[in-house]
Amino acid sequence: MKVTYFGHSCFSVEIGGKVLLFDPFIRPNELASHVDVASLRPDYILVSHGHWDHMADVVEIAGNSNATLICNFEIGTWFGGKGVKNIVQMNIGGKHSFEWGNVKLTSAIHSSSLPDNSYGGVASGFLISSEEGNFYYSGDTALTMDMELIGKYHHNDFAVLPIGDNFTMDINNALICADMIKCNRIIGVHYDTFPVIGIDKEAAVEKFVAAGKELILINIAASVDMEVRTKITAH
Ligand code: NI
Ligand code: MN
Repeated sequence: MKVTYFGHSCFSVEIGGKVLLFDPFIRPNELASHVDVASLRPDYILVSHGHWDHMADVVEIAGNSNATLICNFEIGTWFGGKGVKNIVQMNIGGKHSFEWGNVKLTSAIHSSSLPDNSYGGVASGFLISSEEGNFYYSGDTALTMDMELIGKYHHNDFAVLPIGDNFTMDINNALICADMIKCNRIIGVHYDTFPVIGIDKEAAVEKFVAAGKELILINIAASVDMEVRTKITAH
């Protein structure tokens, strides 16, 4: 599975020849100004919750690509009203099968309102299962005991977790989460975009190494192949 990072919590994963793009927030992100948003053609766009920093570019990218939006019921209805054509609406605990695998919505401990203050439903994360591998993207969340259920019942080859603190888990809570979900390969997101979520990247990577785990911090616009990676390094 090739993972490409677009800054903040936006990343894409290629599975079965399809491109899944998560939480697009690229145009407003100065750190991602070198990403060519107009050229992105994902097959699916997954939105974890209604906050601006997770969906700013959905209408543009869905319009260019005709991608199918996967999100909760309330966010799906809202984007339908913005002209997004193909939408799969789900809710927490539910699973939906696609040609390349399936998506299950997990609970996230976070808020979710849309930019016009409409109700965005409950913030979510995603469990992705496919023949090429499985992963967990938690979305914006606090550490929660629900993560133990994921470790108990879902094998994850890697997980994508927020590490920036203030709005979400910090690096220490992400380490505890990694234990709870029984996954030692973590891609960190939701850091450095704003001063309040700035982190010391080297110190964060060291903390994971000291715990016998791997923290992967991908440069914006760079890709990592999660199947062949074995070394513990920052990117
Ligand atoms: Ni949020
Ligand atoms: Mn956020």
